Amino acid sequence: PQKPFQTKLVLLGEAAVGKSSVVLRFVQNDFQENKEPTIGAAFLTQKCRLEDRLIKFEIWDTAGQERFHSLAPMYYRNAQASAVIYDVTKASSFEKAKSWVKELQRQANPNIVIALVGNKIDLLGESSTSDADADADEDDDTATATPEAGAAGDAGSLRAVPKDEAEAYAKEAGLLFFETSAKTGEGVVEVFTEIAKKIPID
Ligand code: GTP
Ligand code: MG
Repeated sequence: PQKPFQTKLVLLGEAAVGKSSVVLRFVQNDFQENKEPTIGAAFLTQKCRLEDRLIKFEIWDTAGQERFHSLAPMYYRNAQASAVIYDVTKASSFEKAKSWVKELQRQANPNIVIALVGNKIDLLGESSTSDADADADEDDDTATATPEAGAAGDAGSLRAVPKDEAEAYAKEAGLLFFETSAKTGEGVVEVFTEIAKKIPID
C-alpha cells in the first residue's frame, strides 16, 4: 500500500575493501570470493522495510581504484546517504575512508547521512577480535602501528584498525559506525537499516 521512499546512497572506499561485496550481500544475499574490481560504478536497487515506511535504496557502487576518483562527485553530489567502507585488516584503507568522509563533509549535501563501515571482520582470528586486554591500562600504543599484514593470507589476518579507535573517530565526525563481513553477512543488513532510519521524511 505504501509508496516506497527513494533514497540515493553512494558507496565509497579504497579499492578491494569490499564495497561491491557488501552490496551483493545486501541485494542478493550472495558472496563471491573473486569479485572483479568495479569499473566506473555499478547501480543496484534494494528495498528496506522499516516499521513506518518502505525505503527504496538506489545504490551507486563506485570504483575504488584511484584512476576513478574524479568520477566520485557525480555519484555523491545529490546522494542522501553514503557508506564509506574500509578493510579492518588494512590500515591504509581506514586513512582513505577518513579522507572520503572529509570530502563528503566538504562537498556533498550537508544533510547527507554517512555510515563508516569496517568490512572483512571474518578474517580476524578470535584472538585479534577479543577484547581480552582492552581494559589493560594505557600501555604504549606501538602495537597498533601498521602491522605489515599485507601478506597475511595464511592462517588469518591481524586487525589493523582497532574497533574503539574507528568508533571514536565516527562519533567525533558524526557518522554511524558498523563492522561487517560481506562473506558471512554479519552486520550488513544493519548498515542499510540504520541508514534508512536516519533518512528524514519530508
Ligand atoms: P573496487 O570495485 O575495486 O573498488 O573493490 P571493492 O571495494 O568493490 O571490493 P570487492 O567487493 O570487489 O572485494 C574485493 C575482494 O575482497 C574480493 O575478492 C572479495 O571476495 C573480497 N571480500 C569482500 N568482502 C569480504 C569480506 O567481508 N570478507 C572476506 N574474507 N573477503 C571479502
Ligand atoms: Mg567494486
